[in-house]
Formats: sequence, C-alpha cells, structure tokens
Amino acid sequence: MAEELIISTNTTKEQTYQELMPQIEALVAGEPNMLANISNMMSALKYTFDWLWVGVYFVREDELVLGPFQGPIACTRIQLGRGVSGTAWNNKETIVVANVDEFPDHIICNAASKSEIVIPVFDKKNEVALILDVDSDKLNDFDEVDEKYLTQVVRLIESFL
Ligand code: SME
Repeated sequence: MAEELIISTNTTKEQTYQELMPQIEALVAGEPNMLANISNMMSALKYTFDWLWVGVYFVREDELVLGPFQGPIACTRIQLGRGVSGTAWNNKETIVVANVDEFPDHIICNAASKSEIVIPVFDKKNEVALILDVDSDKLNDFDEVDEKYLTQVVRLIESFL
C-alpha cells in the first residue's frame, strides 16, 4: 500500500477523480476489513478535494449512526427520513443539494456546510446499509461528475460489505 496519494495539481475535477480512483482501489485491495477500508477512503477523498466533511452513517435499526469520517465533529444519530441523509436512505436514492439552506429539514451539523451530496450504499439484499455524505463549504460544489465517481466509490464499499 502506498503511503501517500499522488494527485496532479491544475487539472480538472474529472482528471483528479481519474487519478484518484485507481489509488483508492489499490488502497483497499487485499484488505477485507470494512471499517479500515472506509476510513482510508474517507481520508483519500477529504484530502484530495479539501471538502468540509466526508464520512458515512451506518443504518442501525431505525436510525443512521455516525461512522468513519474526516472533518469537524458531526451529529451522531439521524432519524429515517430526516435531513438529507435520512431522506436519501428513506428514498434509496442519491441526493445532491446545491444550497443546504433551501433543502427542507436539512440537519445542521456544521454551520459552514453550504452544499452536499449523499449516496446510499446497498447490501447484498439491496437494502441501504450505510450512506456516504460529503459536505462542502462552497455553494453548488457537487455535480454529475462527483455523482459519477462518488458512486464508483460507493460500489467499491459495497464490494466488501
Ligand atoms: N447535513 C446532513 C447531516 C449530516 S452532516 O452534514 C455530517 C443532513 O441533513 O442529513
């Protein structure tokens, strides 16, 4: 396993993802432990893109419970259907929020968060097992490029669930 990520500067976001993805795959290759792999993946994303917060919440009965993350301290539990994360879980769908102030029932874990993407991670029974939550301190920071590559990250997480 490499000790650091190698990412070029002054490239497009898509090129950055294209450089990062094989390194994320290499980072988790041969390691079956889910928490170890998710932890390193959250770090790789956070330090490549310098987002405010990158982490996961696990489905535990009728709540989401905070898992490995990088960034400021966060809410530990989120109810089904509440906030962006609880809605993505309930609806089993990715949600991109350009301006969190305009999302009804957005849960403020950190006032600096301005935009957000949440992607559900499915287990082998096609139930949501966890969600990936990425927050930015910039408005409208996530688009279809982020959705495409972060969904690839999610598929990788699903491979070791
Ligand atoms: N804003 C999220 C809560 C989780 S955090 O931002 C880390 C939401 O509305 O679901």
